This record gives sequence, structure tokens and C-alpha cells, in this order.
Amino acid sequence: MTAYRSGGRQVTRRVEAASTPYRTITVEKLTPIIGAEIGGIDLARPLSSEQRDEIAHALLENLVIFFRDQDLTPEQHIAFGRLFGDLHLHPAAPHVEGLPELMIIRADRNSKRANGEDWHSDVSCDAEPPMGSILRIAECPAEGGDTLFASMSAAYDALSDRMKAYLDGLVAVHDGENVYRGAYEDFGIGDKESYPRAEHPVVRTHPVTGRKALYVNRIFTTRILGLPREEGDALLAFLLAHCESPLWQCRFRWRPHSMAFWDNRAAQHRAMWDYWPETRAGFRVTVKGERPV
Ligand code: SIN
Repeated sequence: MTAYRSGGRQVTRRVEAASTPYRTITVEKLTPIIGAEIGGIDLARPLSSEQRDEIAHALLENLVIFFRDQDLTPEQHIAFGRLFGDLHLHPAAPHVEGLPELMIIRADRNSKRANGEDWHSDVSCDAEPPMGSILRIAECPAEGGDTLFASMSAAYDALSDRMKAYLDGLVAVHDGENVYRGAYEDFGIGDKESYPRAEHPVVRTHPVTGRKALYVNRIFTTRILGLPREEGDALLAFLLAHCESPLWQCRFRWRPHSMAFWDNRAAQHRAMWDYWPETRAGFRVTVKGERPV
């Protein structure tokens, strides 16, 4: 068990990771709640099924896992992603020519925006949002450009029983329109006629661990259904602020050829654009997920 304080209350949760033995990788936690650095593995080489299973296990236990010094080719990056499921194609973002699975992440002196500048779970506007994302940063500034991650399972656990009961069965709208329209002009990408929009439960159950997690985020979630508008908006504002508490966050500092693999079903993230006019660039492979329940 681990314990932490939230809003003056003591919150306890189970941490299975402490007792899990790993044989093929090392797993060094960043915090007791979220994040671990994985060592002892070269992702450019074919992985054994035991290595693949231990990585999948470390992801479930830590919600985001990090790797250092992984100088992968685009094809190796894609092959690594495919070990965890079919790959998702982004509805709006630029990709490497001829490789639609490899999304380009880049901000430099000429950028008007950077990816993921506010808290979100990737493409939650899709009817079946991605289960995980695997980002490899090839070039990064000497300082800045960190990514923050937050556990939505811990955020859910910390709610009062009354709030948990109130949220039970509520559904929210996730809309890609405001997020994606005009967002990729810097890359010469014009707008589509429409972008995905979906309704998802405010609290979702992880399909593998069975843990409940809050599933609303600042960039995609526009309203909660079934409540008077003002009440829904106030509830959403409370939940978004709660999700973003530093109590269940970790922060990752990138180096060239670092990789992060996060579980979009139970974690949110936010990328810092504090390095202008420096360049930060890499590629993301995104693994398909299922309809949240
Ligand atoms: C994203 O996938 O949202 C971007 C994350 C990052 O650039 O750190």
C-alpha cells in the first residue's frame, strides 16, 4: 500500500509494482503513483515474448514508462508499436511521407503552436480512442520541453464516495473540432470538413486492470450530458482542476533518443513549450484502443 494526502484527506491505494519481479528489464519508479524508467533493453532488436510481456506489465503498473538511448529507425519504431496492437492513424496531424502510422511531433522557431500544450488523453474525440502512444524524441533543447503525466486512476481514487456515486453513469462529449481545426497550418496541412466527436463515460474502467479512472480532459471534453448546463460546466471545471493536481503527476526530462510509452486509458499528459526558439522534434506511434466503458 502507499498513502498520500489529497485535500486534507489520507488516500491509500495498492501498488502492485513494488512486488512484481522482472526478469528481462529493470524498472525504476519515478514516483509511487505514476511513471517508471525501463532499462536493460534495446528496442532496436527483436524482442522476446517475455520482454514484450514485461514491458506491457510495467506499462499497466506505472501508466507511463520511459526508455533512454533508443536510436530507432522509423520502421523499428513502428514494429515496436505493433507488438502492442494495431496502429492508429491520426485524424489530423502530419505524418512521415509514406508512413501514415508515424506522426510528426515538432516545434521550432517558426512554430505557432506545439503539440499537447494542455492536459489531454490522446484523440479522446475518437469513438475508440487509442490505448497507448509511443513517442520518441530525436532532437530536444538542452533545457525545457519536458512532458508531464498524471494518473487518472489516482485522481478517481482520491474523490469522495459521494462524488464517485454522483459521477456514476454520467457521459461527456469529446470534440476534435476546436482542437484540430487550423492546428497543423504550420505543416501546410489544410482543414478537413469535420473532425471526430464522441460521447464517453466520465469514469471509465480499465479493460485490463479493472481500475476506474476519470476520463475527461481539458482540450477535448466540452460538456457533460444529462445535467443542467451550468451544473455540468461547474462539475467539469472541478474535475479538470482535480485531474491536473500535482499529487498524481510525474515529469519527464527528455534527452535525444528517449522514448515514452503511455496508457491513454488511465493517464493524461501535457507537453511544455517553454523552449522557443529552440527545436524539439520526434515521432509518435499510436496503438489502437477500444470504446471506453
Ligand atoms: C502529444 O503526443 O500529445 C505530445 C507529447 C509531447 O510532445 O511530449
